[in-house]
Amino acid sequence: MPLVIAIDGPAASGKGTLARRIAQTLDLPHLDTGLLYRAVGARCLKDGVLEDEAASLAAARMLDLATLDADSLRDAETGAAASIVAARPAVRAALLDLQRAFAARPGGAVLDGRDIGTVICPDAPVKLFITAAPEIRALRRYKELLGRGADVTLDGVLADIRERDARDSGRASAPLAKAGDAVEIDTSDLGIEEAFAAAMEIVRLKSGGR
Ligand code: DC
Repeated sequence: MPLVIAIDGPAASGKGTLARRIAQTLDLPHLDTGLLYRAVGARCLKDGVLEDEAASLAAARMLDLATLDADSLRDAETGAAASIVAARPAVRAALLDLQRAFAARPGGAVLDGRDIGTVICPDAPVKLFITAAPEIRALRRYKELLGRGADVTLDGVLADIRERDARDSGRASAPLAKAGDAVEIDTSDLGIEEAFAAAMEIVRLKSGGR
């Protein structure tokens, strides 16, 4: 079994930063699966068809990993649109093979998202579930958005995080959930170095020194 590391958690929990660092450290390819839903959401927003299920399915089917532009997909509006299209089972189904193919790379891979340990890679040898209190996640996301010149308020970002948590956890299709065999890390009181050290320790333990 290749070293597949599945990392799940709510918005702005720190899972993306951890996934990138773990992948870099272990020299593994990394897929931020939120970008797939963001790309579909962005396409629908651009075309003014966010409410149209068939249009979101068509956008998901046309998605090409090679052309994903992460920087243009990180804004709050795209995140909210991603959460809406991600609740549609057909959209999720259309993005399944692409994610599984990425995870099946011979040397292993790191994937982060909401349903990696539960649906995409249920057999992954290493599963992490990264959480943090909503207020802490909102503050992190607020600072990140300000840094990119966005016009946002902390209250607005917190409301957005709560709304996304409710939609991502409450949907019927592959909701955000901790897999039974995932190890949880609450990053509320951890700096990035501490969270990274804790994650790497679990990776070492679970991967049996691979
Ligand atoms: O991680 P993110 O904030 O970039 O994700 C954007 C949205 O995409 C998130 O609100 C829910 C959805 N998503 C999902 O449903 N499943 C995934 N594996 C990754 C993201």
